Amino acid sequence: MTALAPQPAEAPVCLADVRRAAEAVLPRHVLDFVEGGSGAETTLAANRAAFDAVTLLPRVLAGVSTVDSAGALLGTSTAMPVAIAPMAYQRLLHPDGELATARAAKRAGIPFVISTLSSCTFADIAATGASTWFQLYWLRDRAGVIELLGAADEAGCLAVVLTADVPVMGRRRRDMRNQFALPPDVPAVNLRHPGGQAPTEAHRAASGASAVATHTNLAFEPGLTWRDVEWLRRRTHLPLVIKGVLDPRDARHAADCGANAVVVSNHGGRQFDGAPASIAALPAVVDAVSGDCEVLLDSGVRGGTDVLRSLAFGASGVLVGRPVLWGLAAGGEQGVAQVLSLLQAELLEAMTLAGCRDLAAAAGLTAAPRAGQMSTGQMSTGQMSTGQMSTGRSAS
Ligand code: FNR
Repeated sequence: MTALAPQPAEAPVCLADVRRAAEAVLPRHVLDFVEGGSGAETTLAANRAAFDAVTLLPRVLAGVSTVDSAGALLGTSTAMPVAIAPMAYQRLLHPDGELATARAAKRAGIPFVISTLSSCTFADIAATGASTWFQLYWLRDRAGVIELLGAADEAGCLAVVLTADVPVMGRRRRDMRNQFALPPDVPAVNLRHPGGQAPTEAHRAASGASAVATHTNLAFEPGLTWRDVEWLRRRTHLPLVIKGVLDPRDARHAADCGANAVVVSNHGGRQFDGAPASIAALPAVVDAVSGDCEVLLDSGVRGGTDVLRSLAFGASGVLVGRPVLWGLAAGGEQGVAQVLSLLQAELLEAMTLAGCRDLAAAAGLTAAPRAGQMSTGQMSTGQMSTGQMSTGRSAS
């Protein structure tokens, strides 16, 4: 008799499956560095809870025999409205690091955002042929900022993304408990280090401290203001993005300074613990910029429905963070490619089931938080009160 019992599926069918694969291969302290948030991880948890609370009203009889998720973000053509979020030190996860991620982004037809703290050089990442944007952490040393901008420009980056929510690094308790420090062979290769590349403070373990936080706090400028954004706007000809905006007044300010986009983000719950979920803050930001710049979102995107939820609330696209690192850890370039193709498949399926032939139709979906959920941001602006419906901008 042959056994008829179903075999466990080997191939991941959702991003959570890839997370489990990454958990199986990563040492605990590296997994904690990736997964952890700051403080009590309240904001980290809020990101998921708020996404789960959003319902979308599907349209029917919309002729969805073909569905197209292609579009553009900041003038960069995209196969879906997704870019890979900037994430530091990717060689911690896989020897190929950012090169594997960039190659997978290229295969998926989406942009890859290169972190200031990447562990491969801008030139090597550029050589993969991926469409790249450059994420800037503003250094105390302004000459270093100018050098980074020049190197990113030379590498053909298509946009500059200034991260505005790290005046200091959030207290990441997991890293502090683990005395987290980088291994010597994973340096921030694009930063000038007096006396050579490594070791820096980021490589020196210390009791009760995260060495990465110590390095960040020494290297990054905490005194940035909108005047610096104006300076940066004059300095670069590339589209400028301000990442880490939650308050609609800051979003308005960014648009007034000539930013081409803001990223509504709480840094994946890694910075100010107590900040609202990004998806909860999104509607008020969309309203504040009133079409004067694009609005992107990150923090907690874990599937195609989350992308659709973000579009329905007025985002033009999302950045995806940790799931990409899960794929990288589990399978290098192939693992990241798998994450992105799952996300693309889920998005197309969600669009089909919700009756959206294209991204314009997705923006017109009606979204509503479930009663009693996701009140932050919406309540304070008077845009929507809890349980009320929000009709997308181009509803038909
Ligand atoms: C980050 N993030 C980040 N952001 C940034 O602007 N520059 C950076 O170098 C990093 N580095 C980084 C490392 C790791 C391990 C993580 C998990 C995150 C934040 C990132 O760009 C993004 O805002 C969040 O990861 C989005 O949330 P999700 O998708 O991870 O929930």
